[in-house]
Amino acid sequence: MADNPVLQVRHLRTRIGIGPSIYNVVDDISFDLHRGRTLALVGESGCGKTMTALSLLRILQQPPVVEVEGEVLFQGRDLLRLSEKEMRAIRGGRIAMIFQDPASALNPVYTVGNQMAEAAELHLNLFGEEARERCLNALIEVGIPASSNLLDAYPHQLSGGMRQRVIIAMALLCEPDILIADEPTTALDVTIQAQVFDLMRRLQRKKETALLLITHDMGVVAELAHDVIVMYASQVVERGSVEQIFDHRAHPYTMALFDSRPTLETTRGTLRAIKGSVPALTHYPHGCRFHTRCPFVMAKCKTGEVPDFPLVDAHSAKCWLHDGSLESMEKWGRQ
Ligand SMILES: Nc1ncnc2c1ncn2[C@@H]1O[C@H](COP(=O)(O)OP(=O)(O)OP(=O)(O)O)[C@@H](O)[C@H]1O
Ligand SMILES: [Mg+2]
Repeated sequence: MADNPVLQVRHLRTRIGIGPSIYNVVDDISFDLHRGRTLALVGESGCGKTMTALSLLRILQQPPVVEVEGEVLFQGRDLLRLSEKEMRAIRGGRIAMIFQDPASALNPVYTVGNQMAEAAELHLNLFGEEARERCLNALIEVGIPASSNLLDAYPHQLSGGMRQRVIIAMALLCEPDILIADEPTTALDVTIQAQVFDLMRRLQRKKETALLLITHDMGVVAELAHDVIVMYASQVVERGSVEQIFDHRAHPYTMALFDSRPTLETTRGTLRAIKGSVPALTHYPHGCRFHTRCPFVMAKCKTGEVPDFPLVDAHSAKCWLHDGSLESMEKWGRQ
């Protein structure tokens, strides 16, 4: 990549306490975000996607979270080591997030205008008429006409699609360097989804925003992502460009994720789900965490850490199938 990353995450580990024990809910995750590019974080429910995002912004519930380790470098500073006051200036200003649950993202007792004005005041130091103008402009950018009186509306008066536009407008109000979008379109119907994708793509192009897109939907990945990280049971199991992940996927879990996508054929019969279920945080198996569900499982998969095996360019997979041994090559060849 030619330009410098706008965010560098190194060996991020988030620990939570459950009963008397402590578990890594995010387990040694590293990645870079680049201006104007989208990195998708994908994986089944419970694999730690939201926890990763919340860790970057330091908005975790404590307890159960007991510790966040590693580095999150933004403009030469490690966000994990800033004071809460310094962090508040970055959160929502330089780095904005669209949350998984759109209903909880807006406060029901304040008008849209009030909530947007508060953000403008806090992060842009704008007040009164100036703040109002900036908010109206942000709404226009997401396709809401200035004449709509939306600033005076309460969140419950808006449709789901409109509410999501307002949330995106709020996130983009301060022209953040980084936007984290956690399942931004899951709650929306397909037509509105397409509009929101379009909007995010246009805004990204215009403002060169770096986007971290969290989703379990490969269709969304195909629409928006440049690079992909696949997570399973708190770890990264495969990473690569969107082309590499779609056309040359190398981890059996990634393959299973694609196979479990509904198609006309599978939905009319029974949906081909991945066999078994994601192990609970408290019961990760030894060795490769996917080995209990993996059709290629070998003896070496059942003990010890699995290294990340480099493939072509930045593509890599945490899977023994790529260690170059005869046994692995035979297995891989038979897939
Ligand atoms: N408050 C909590 N107490 C205990 N465990 C928690 C808590 N919050 C999350 N977890 C656990 O952390 C793990 C990761 O959760 P996370 O919300 O990051 O998953 P996710 O990948 O975002 O899933 P989804 O696709 O369903 O949003 C899960 O195993 C979950 O059970
Ligand atoms: Mg989540």
